[in-house]
Amino acid sequence: MAVGILLVGGLGTRLMPLTKYTPKPMLTVAGLPVTEHQLAMARNAGITTVVLATSYLSDLFTPYFGDGSKWGMKLLYAVEKSPLGTGGAIANAAQLLDTHESIVVINGDVLSSHNLGEQIRQHEANKADLTLHLTTVADARAYGCVPSDSQGRVIAFLEKMDKPVANTINAGCYLFNPKVVQSIPLNTVISVERESFPQLISDAAQVFSYIDNSYWLDIGTPQALLKGSRDLVSGIADAPALEMADVAHHDQHCLIMATARVDASAVIDQGSCIGAGATIAPQAHVRGSIIESGAVVGKGAIISDSFVAAGAEVAENAQISAAFVTKSEILTI
Ligand code: GTP
Repeated sequence: MAVGILLVGGLGTRLMPLTKYTPKPMLTVAGLPVTEHQLAMARNAGITTVVLATSYLSDLFTPYFGDGSKWGMKLLYAVEKSPLGTGGAIANAAQLLDTHESIVVINGDVLSSHNLGEQIRQHEANKADLTLHLTTVADARAYGCVPSDSQGRVIAFLEKMDKPVANTINAGCYLFNPKVVQSIPLNTVISVERESFPQLISDAAQVFSYIDNSYWLDIGTPQALLKGSRDLVSGIADAPALEMADVAHHDQHCLIMATARVDASAVIDQGSCIGAGATIAPQAHVRGSIIESGAVVGKGAIISDSFVAAGAEVAENAQISAAFVTKSEILTI
């Protein structure tokens, strides 16, 4: 069986100001932190021990996730004093793990319905050093591309380019042979994408692709964060974490977490979610938006395609569209 590392230490600059006080993986989509959705996905694949590799705002994970027993998992925490990059974070976190098992590494900002259990199976059957989940996109110019041969061997790990040689891209979920992780130097800033992966390929290591085109989304930009939440609510993306969560109401149009107070005359639709303890006043209309825990939406307010952060307040009759609303500011996105 495999053990896991979740990379959750990045700065999340593209989601400022939401990430000023909340690390990106703790932002909620469909009522729960991104990390909680990822842990449920890992658990469904049989992974019960996971290290959260934290750095930026590291203190905010433990009060919520604790030792993981609430989810039937064992969670450990590795903290980098300053961010070590994806490779340095993996090396640092792996010190807390049993060194004999395959290590699954998941980027902390990805929603994926891919078959992780099958990725693990293929990795072990191939006796691979590294198995990368790849997904197919129509246009790979915005990403680096990762071509592989007919045997599934990765032949290059390429940066963004105008004319990509393949339409398969890195989907941010990696299976490592633990020996490969042990070869990454400790206490050193390293990027697996820019340094370790290209090096392994040029060293002719056993690097395989696992191509799976199930639902996949990097939620690192404002529009993607909102889309990810809507997709989880509407059922386009798998949401196993919701099965264990305290949910008051869920259909394909809206999700309302337990303890939220939603007036009967309010309309919540287009895949919106209302977090625990949030208040939605009479005649308010919330469309395609995320209202985080404890936020208040005033009477008659109309909110479209927006993110209202935990504890923020929207005034009566306000009209907010495509914006981030925090306790202290509103930013059009
Ligand atoms: P942006 O600043 O908006 O690009 O976001 P980011 O900081 O999250 O960077 P990026 O999207 O490239 O990171 C991909 C994943 O790796 C995210 O889940 C990050 O949390 C994580 N990550 C990036 N750098 C580090 C690091 O130095 N340490 C740890 N522990 N995680 C990291």
